[in-house]
Amino acid sequence: MKKEMEIIANAVTIIRKSTGLEPEIGLILGSGLGDYADQIENPVAIPYRDLPGFPVSTVAGHAGQFVIGMCKGRCVIAMQGRIHYYEGYSQKEITLPVRIMKRLGIKKMVLTNACGGVNQDFAPGTLMMLKDHINYSGSNPLLGENFEEDGPRFPDVSQVYKKEYREGLKAAASAKGIHLEEGVYMMFSGPCYETPAEVRMARTLGADAVGMSTVPEAIVCAHCGIPVLGISCITNFGAGILDQPLNHEEVVETAARVKKAFVDVLDTALTEVL
Ligand code: 6GU
Repeated sequence: MKKEMEIIANAVTIIRKSTGLEPEIGLILGSGLGDYADQIENPVAIPYRDLPGFPVSTVAGHAGQFVIGMCKGRCVIAMQGRIHYYEGYSQKEITLPVRIMKRLGIKKMVLTNACGGVNQDFAPGTLMMLKDHINYSGSNPLLGENFEEDGPRFPDVSQVYKKEYREGLKAAASAKGIHLEEGVYMMFSGPCYETPAEVRMARTLGADAVGMSTVPEAIVCAHCGIPVLGISCITNFGAGILDQPLNHEEVVETAARVKKAFVDVLDTALTEVL
């Protein structure tokens, strides 16, 4: 615990030294969606490797830096490249960025990801707002000593994904001709994709999508009292829905194809909802 507090305090000091900006909104950008950070004006970038003790992401295509600046007139801090549980870090470690962002002053969080579709009505390319999640990762970011200054030992997680954000964004996007679905995201640890039987299980349990991220960060946001807007890009059908194997290239390709709509949705969220 002392170790984590030191990592957090050092990161906050270093980030504050590099910019006088006080971010209001946190953004965690998922696979293939990190380019959104390029929308940030006069960006100040802080590579994770400059932060002592900070976990660094190892997946190709994950840049691995905080980017702070103005976006659509809002002061944001984006994580360009998230740290995944499947990289071998604990969920406590991969969510330190949320606790750092909280100390930098963020009041709201946008979590994004690329994920697999379980609901057969959600074709690849669908953008889905999270209305809830199922933590099937096998762990929890709040295990161990409680971060007392952030929140309670037994936090409520019945309203993690703020309803007003979902309703506001659905209406605002629809007015621009962008269709948004809503659904339940179920986290598996990865790094393998699910089996066809696991995808059927996920559907039976009430999931609309499966992925390998987002839930730990959302739980820590709930712990810290930070409301969340969660947006998934469904990049492919879950295993067994089509008679073909899954691959990471398809995930990256679909994310690239949907990028413009995704950027429009995030812009809309920043200008009209958050
Ligand atoms: Cl099918 N499963 C998981 N866990 N993550 C994914 C995915 C599937 N497709 C993209 N990301």
